[in-house]
Amino acid sequence: MATRTLTMIKPDAVENQNAGKIIAHLEGEGFAIVAARKLRLTTDQARTFYAVHKERPFYNDLVAYMTSGPIWAMLLERDDAVPHLRRTMGATNPADADEGTIRAQFGESIERNAIHGSDSDENAANEGAFFFSASELLIV
Ligand code: RTP
Ligand code: MG
Repeated sequence: MATRTLTMIKPDAVENQNAGKIIAHLEGEGFAIVAARKLRLTTDQARTFYAVHKERPFYNDLVAYMTSGPIWAMLLERDDAVPHLRRTMGATNPADADEGTIRAQFGESIERNAIHGSDSDENAANEGAFFFSASELLIV
């Protein structure tokens, strides 16, 4: 069944001019782009988006990195979107990511790892609503 997931092309990948290659990779995996926006997260937005990690030692660094430059936020659709995007991204640490995955190709470090993907259908819905209005989510 076609479902949706939220991705961000992170500041390192935008800065390194890899956004287009990552979008092509995602389209090659059969993802349709439902909605897309380039923006720079504020500190408050980044803290809220990654609030689940607020007790982790890497939280402040993560917020600083995610606000260091523009990102692309995109709502994607295909069969089994959440698990398929996670497989397409590869492991959090690019050094551990399978060959051919986005993080293996474009990630620089466990922090600067090129791409975000929602980790559940529930979080995908919440993260989609974080970036896009209800009317934007109707366009397919
Ligand atoms: P994401 O949420 O961005 O899709 O990444 P993920 O599920 O693979 O990894 P998660 O555990 O949710 O971590 C969120 C992001 O925090 C940064 N991180 N840094 N320095 C560190 O040890 C460390 N660990 C995680 C990464 O940018 C990671 O994607
Ligand atoms: Mg995560």
